Amino acid sequence: MKGLILSGGSGRRLRPLTHTNAKQLVPIANKPILHYVLEDLVSAGVTNIAIVVGDTGDEVRASVGDGSRWGATVAYVEQSAPLGLAHAVLVAQDFLADDPFVMYLGDNMFEESLDLIVEGFVDSEEAARLLLARVDDPCAFGVANVDSSGAIVGLVEKPTDPPSDLALVGVYLFTAAIHEAVRRIRPSARGELEITDAIQLLIDDGANINHRVLEGWWIDTGKKDPLLACNRLVLARLPGDGVLVDDDAEVIRSTLVGPVVVAAGARIVDSTVGPSVAVGAGCRIEGSTVDDSVLMDGSSIMGQQMVTGSVLGREAGIHGVGGQLDRRSSVLSVLLGDHSLVDTTGVVDEVISNG
Ligand code: DAU
Repeated sequence: MKGLILSGGSGRRLRPLTHTNAKQLVPIANKPILHYVLEDLVSAGVTNIAIVVGDTGDEVRASVGDGSRWGATVAYVEQSAPLGLAHAVLVAQDFLADDPFVMYLGDNMFEESLDLIVEGFVDSEEAARLLLARVDDPCAFGVANVDSSGAIVGLVEKPTDPPSDLALVGVYLFTAAIHEAVRRIRPSARGELEITDAIQLLIDDGANINHRVLEGWWIDTGKKDPLLACNRLVLARLPGDGVLVDDDAEVIRSTLVGPVVVAAGARIVDSTVGPSVAVGAGCRIEGSTVDDSVLMDGSSIMGQQMVTGSVLGREAGIHGVGGQLDRRSSVLSVLLGDHSLVDTTGVVDEVISNG
């Protein structure tokens, strides 16, 4: 089986981070999401992989290279614009040829291992195997309509009136039958070639479409809160007390509350960090309390009583005056793009002068 990872797209929903970053390279527990996807594919025996890339292709190439680090061969397929998941299959046709393949959205992560999902597909009669998960907000996803015998009878993308709470998870197994279907569909109302429409054609043609309902967690990480939730879940898998500090990091007069990871070159002074914090390479935290946050490489938090539920892009900073902060002004929850700075000193002055 071949692997097709989708890593194009504009990442609108993770702005401002993805003005400058590929959303698939946002780190979870200090490792890019895309690297987890590669690990998952390789552990399921899928080593011949292509990554569909768009505007952020150079960054993706620099991060993944030729795939030899994972024991895989990685090729790159350029997609001129994010014209839809089915469009990504169209542009990858030369690579895919007539082989069965796993299509994996590069911003999805889930707990169950892929090998259980792939098992038996190649020798089956199935034209496609889909992965579904029960969600609270089906309107935000592709949704399956399943009949009383458990068969999928329809798929609808981002429905206003969802037929079920079973969302399509971003992993799809296909045979070559999908190629003709993606050639037959037309752009949807949002202007994309939808993979759900192509699969619907297969269903209408009477093809054998199987599915599994996912157990365990699944997260489409393209938004801040799911990103933080994923960070919590992955950190929770750390062994022992869940405190992982690189030998080249410094922790001075500080308390680390697991699970927490601290990367090389980071410096934590007079602070309490954790639980559920990933501190990237070269970060600085001084005189602050931080929990439930992702700090990307080179970012800093100085003099903050409480930073929670925050994502800081590379070299971003929150700088204030620490102990003098008024309690109401001191709990910060932010999403900061690369090189952004929040200076809370002025906030303090205002709170104090307002009495
Ligand atoms: O996460 C699961 C959902 O993913 C499914 O439930 C939906 O049925 C499916 O359409 C998809 O919806 P999203 O709106 O979340 O897709 P998004 O635009 O975020 O793209 C998913 C990934 O595919 C992301 O890593 C970017 C990449 N992509 C996307 C498009 C539209 C491409 O590489 N090329 C594209 O043209």
